[in-house]
Amino acid sequence: MKRIFIANWKMNPANIAAARKLFSGITAHTAGAKNARILVAPPFLFLSALPKSRRIVLGVQNIFYEKAGAYTGEISADMAFAAGARFAIIGHSERRALGETDAAINLKIKAALASGLQAVLCVGERDRTDENFQHTVRAQLMADLETVQKKSAGRLVVAYEPVWAIGTGKTVEPRDLFEMATYIRRIMLELFGKALALRIPVLYGGSVNAANAPDFLRVAGVGGLLVGGASLDAQEFGAIVKSEL
Ligand code: PGA
Repeated sequence: MKRIFIANWKMNPANIAAARKLFSGITAHTAGAKNARILVAPPFLFLSALPKSRRIVLGVQNIFYEKAGAYTGEISADMAFAAGARFAIIGHSERRALGETDAAINLKIKAALASGLQAVLCVGERDRTDENFQHTVRAQLMADLETVQKKSAGRLVVAYEPVWAIGTGKTVEPRDLFEMATYIRRIMLELFGKALALRIPVLYGGSVNAANAPDFLRVAGVGGLLVGGASLDAQEFGAIVKSEL
């Protein structure tokens, strides 16, 4: 299976011109990476301004779960799809920190899948020293994926993003990542059965850069990387993607 590399630009860059420049830089620096599926999640506002590319899939960093109506400031999964998005990051820890609940995340996952988007669900513990950290991840997965139908679960991606590793320069030990990826896969098996569990990619995210990317990609069961800060540097992101070659 091709490795997945997601660029999560978060609330960057400052304007459309800068977004186009970053996107064309990423296009140039990832050229020739045939074994990689490259996904870019810009802010909503820039989605329609970026060129359609056959090689780079565009997505969004959030959606709302209702289809239409009086929801000031929200954007539906169908709107995102119509604007060119083919995936949505859902349940990112930065959104959870702003008050997004597992119940809302669950609705968003189902709305995204129903609209034909691939849903990238982010889960992860806040603190590694908490001895219940595996249980935290399990509880998130169970709540966020409740009543998700098998027929749409083929479009699910799970990103393990320990909160303590996001934007901190700290990263998970490869051995611990292997354990967590295996643990997540076991939960997918429980929820969706063997055939699907083997197809749902499990990604790692948290302070990934070109120097440490190979350490994570070497871990069995890791299907790719979700990259925040380093995805704002086209050359660095290109090097991460090419560490796969
Ligand atoms: P980071 O962010 O790479 O800047 O740590 C990852 C993420 O939040 O998806």
